[in-house]
Amino acid sequence: MIDEILKKIEKSGEKYWICGPDTGEFLLEKICEIGAKRVLEIGTSVGYSALWMSKSGAEIFTVESHKERGDLAEENFKDFSNIRLVRGHAPEVLSEIPGEFDFVFFDATKYEHLAYFEAVYPRMRKGAVLVVDNISTHGEGKMMRKFLDMAKDHPGCKSEFKEIGNGLLVIEILGLNKEN
Ligand SMILES: C[S@@+](CC[C@H](N)C(=O)[O-])C[C@H]1O[C@@H](n2cnc3c(N)ncnc32)[C@H](O)[C@@H]1O
Repeated sequence: MIDEILKKIEKSGEKYWICGPDTGEFLLEKICEIGAKRVLEIGTSVGYSALWMSKSGAEIFTVESHKERGDLAEENFKDFSNIRLVRGHAPEVLSEIPGEFDFVFFDATKYEHLAYFEAVYPRMRKGAVLVVDNISTHGEGKMMRKFLDMAKDHPGCKSEFKEIGNGLLVIEILGLNKEN
C-alpha cells in the first residue's frame, strides 16, 4: 500500500521536489538504527519522504506551508495514523507540536536552516540525529554556507556529509552543554 503511493509520487517526476528513493531509504534506515520514536520533518511537499520515514513505525510530524501540496499530502497520509501534517510556516508553527524529537529532517527553504536549527536544537536529546538535504545542490548559497559553518563549529554537533541524493548532512546531537 505505502509502496504503491511512493511509486505513484515518483512517477510525477520533479514536480514536487521529492527527495527520491535513495534518500528515503537512508532516512528510514537511520531512524531504525537509532530507534527514533518521534520524528520531525520541515518541508512535506506531497508527503514522499514522510511516507518513507513512517515505515519505521515512529510518530512523524511534518510541516508544510503550501496549501495545495499540503492537501495532496493529507490525501496520501489518510491511511497512516502515525503521520501528522502540521500546516503553516516553520519555525513559527513548531510550537504547535509538543515534546522532543529523536530525528529531524530539514527539506524546506534553503536560507532558513539557521532559524529551523535554533528552534529545533533545544528539543533534541543526546544521540538524536538531524539530516539536512540539498547540500550538493545548494551548499554554496550564502545562508546555507552560514548554516554549514555553524554546524561544523557547534560543540553540540558532529557532522558528516553523505553523497546520497542531492547530498545529505547528517548531524549527530552530542548533547554537550545540555542537561539531557
Ligand atoms: C523540497 S520540498 C519537500 C520534499 C519532501 N521532503 C520530500 O522529499 O518528499 C520543500 C517543501 O517545503 C515547503 N516549505 C518551504 N519552506 C517552508 C517553511 N518555512 N515551512 C513549511 N514548509 C516550507 C515548500 O512549500 C515545499 O513543499
